[in-house]
Amino acid sequence: MAAPITFPQLNKHVLEFLSKPRKMLVDGQWVDAISSKTFETYNPATGEVLARVAEGDRADIDHAVKAARKAFESGPWPDVSPSERGRLLWKLSDLLEEHLEEFAELETLDNGKPLLFSRLVDIPTAIDVFRYMAGWATKIEGNTIPISAHGAKYFAYSLREPVGVVGQIIPWNFPMIMAAWKLAPALVVGCTVVLKPAEQTPLTALRLGELILEAGFPAGVVNIVPGFGETAGAALAAHDDVDKIAFTGSTEVGKLILGAANGNLKKVSLELGGKSPNIVFADADLQTAIQGSANAIFFNQGQCCTAGSRLFVHKSIFDQVIDGVAQAAKKFTIGPGIDPATNLGPVVSREQLDRVCGYMESGLNQGARAVVGGHKLPGDGYFVEPTVLVDVKPEMKVVREEIFGPVVTAIPFSEPEEVVASANRSVYGLAAAVWTRDISKAHLIAGKLRAGTVWINCYNVFDPALPFGGYKQSGWGREMGHAALELYTETKAVCAQL
Ligand code: NAI
Ligand code: MG
Repeated sequence: MAAPITFPQLNKHVLEFLSKPRKMLVDGQWVDAISSKTFETYNPATGEVLARVAEGDRADIDHAVKAARKAFESGPWPDVSPSERGRLLWKLSDLLEEHLEEFAELETLDNGKPLLFSRLVDIPTAIDVFRYMAGWATKIEGNTIPISAHGAKYFAYSLREPVGVVGQIIPWNFPMIMAAWKLAPALVVGCTVVLKPAEQTPLTALRLGELILEAGFPAGVVNIVPGFGETAGAALAAHDDVDKIAFTGSTEVGKLILGAANGNLKKVSLELGGKSPNIVFADADLQTAIQGSANAIFFNQGQCCTAGSRLFVHKSIFDQVIDGVAQAAKKFTIGPGIDPATNLGPVVSREQLDRVCGYMESGLNQGARAVVGGHKLPGDGYFVEPTVLVDVKPEMKVVREEIFGPVVTAIPFSEPEEVVASANRSVYGLAAAVWTRDISKAHLIAGKLRAGTVWINCYNVFDPALPFGGYKQSGWGREMGHAALELYTETKAVCAQL
């Protein structure tokens, strides 16, 4: 049933994993969907079926939430010490490291991304996130608080307690990294989880579920229910016995999540879309800025929430920088991600291919000009040419909306104040970058950009210790760093009269 895979070096565990329909993880057991339904995932490099997966729905979500509730309130998990929670997460990271190659191949086959990056970025980052968060287990502290109320003496303190049963819905662009960003902080503070991976890329999360059991997490602490957004995702977001929902994906669906959370006022954190400005000043180290700007948009086929999709270049160096980015675009080795020589793969799905091509067409129809790219590549895979659009206007859809593909719009500017105003003219505020050798200018501009992350002379640098999240319609809350612990804890004040 699985499509033939032409690269014989594939890990034998990967071939075995793909050869059977994958079940879902509920209450420590691998089970079929209650409806018995399954769905297919595709290899984006060929368009062929890659694997068959149990299709979770409302009933499975309910089953999983019950298991997570039971694990949160009884069983071993509430009594697991902080140090032991840390040890379990660390153990998971070690297991993941042992299986790095297998996970990298699986991620590449499911998502399309180059194996080069699955090996060097995706899986190692997920490992680092589990390790970083493991260290927090024993360091989640409250405060002692002086009380001024009259007539008596008091002893008061605060505690940080796990928020409870957490629903987590993740996208397909970095399936393993997103699973780690979500699971690690929730587990380290003592929550239990129902995770719904994206329907396009459920495989590494399901394989991770096996390692979670192997590491020794008690039954029901982590439940993984693959399925579609409109069914499984919506049921999880709306479930009355879920205390918190954490979502990464489109701003459009983020708004639906908010609506669904209305019923029981569950806590909500959202990491949504972006249209990040990338600003190159005339005094930048141009070679670095050009390569950095190309990577800012083309990394992961442009399927990054932080993609540097609006390139602002000082007019005195505009032609030089655009030419440089176009040259970089032409140098990519485009092909199936599983070929180790590939450094630009297909986009994730037929739907995404059509969306990205639709945006390119709309830009070109409205008068934009493609300096390089502008087309789909021939064949059955979901390949799009890396594309640089110039002669764009602020009101064009390609400039305003998130494309989520390897397509950048380039815009010249004259004055710093002008470029800051243009950069901030977006409903999004996820990330931004500034390239300049003038350190004062860099920091002054960083202060003026309305974005959750600002990079100076670099792009797409993430770290488990750096808080990440969006201003404006790019989201609510910050993941990573100790900020992530706040997303998954409640503060309790305890006040005793002495
Ligand atoms: P999406 O936002 O629909 O999907 C993300 C996740 O949400 C998936 O797990 C999906 O199953 C789930 N979902 C979808 N509808 C839902 C609902 N009604 N209730 C609960 N969960 C739901 O993103 P999609 O359709 O895959 O991509 C569309 C666009 O979204 C992309 O072109 C891109 O612009 C943006 N996007 C942004 C991401 C980011 O990292 N900020 C990641 C993925 C997509
Ligand atoms: Mg969608």
